[in-house]
Amino acid sequence: MQHDNAGLQQLLEKIARVAAGDYSNDIMALTTEATPEPIRSIAEAMGLMMVKVEAREFRLEQLVDELRELNERIKQNTLQTVAAMAQALEARDSYTRGHAERVAALAAEIAEEMGLDQERVELVRTAGVLHDIGKIGCSDRIFQDHGPKNPPDVVKEILSHPRVGAEILSRLEFLDQVTAVIVAHHERVDGKGYPHKLPFEQIPLEARIISVADGFDAMTTDRPYQKARTWEVALGILHSGAGAQWDGDCVAACAQVLARKQAAAV
Ligand SMILES: [Fe+2]
Repeated sequence: MQHDNAGLQQLLEKIARVAAGDYSNDIMALTTEATPEPIRSIAEAMGLMMVKVEAREFRLEQLVDELRELNERIKQNTLQTVAAMAQALEARDSYTRGHAERVAALAAEIAEEMGLDQERVELVRTAGVLHDIGKIGCSDRIFQDHGPKNPPDVVKEILSHPRVGAEILSRLEFLDQVTAVIVAHHERVDGKGYPHKLPFEQIPLEARIISVADGFDAMTTDRPYQKARTWEVALGILHSGAGAQWDGDCVAACAQVLARKQAAAV
């Protein structure tokens, strides 16, 4: 009887360990012929149960991995769809063809130059591709040549595009950081930008970077209102606007990136 009690005690301890999530196989030590019945049968049943539980846990882990992968793929597909929308936008305006891609590439290089980590560099790149997506909500009039001064209704529409872009993307929860950058890409470090006239400290660094890349690309491509300027002239304008329209650190990083590109091209 004393012997049976010891065996029972051992069995209960092992069951308690299994219940706590320890699936080590030491319960099998009680399934040998040396263990009296019914302890041996209970230990065998426990052993079988553990095999089944372990198999189910393994399958669950696999399913979690598959779900994670699927979720990532859905995010990427959604992102590609939104990026395709942004590119379709450029088809409405021959002057801005390739603008979003160029801004994304230059902004990402500036972000790298400034030492941002890879995740933030990718955030800058994505926001660069999508920065003008709010123009989807604008009429074709904003793409037409209105001479040196745009009519007030056109100005109003142009000023609305960061906010409209943020509204479009706000439905995609996983893009909330991108949205925060896009809504601020026309803010100025002197607090005179739009749509919110944010002070310097409230403008995300990613938005300040995109503003520089956006300005540089706009100046160096032909537009209805201007002929493309040279890199040097555009960079001079960025430098003279540093501390007012643009963040001086971002302009300096942009200058470094461009200097490297020019040196590589020679
Ligand atoms: Fe814009």
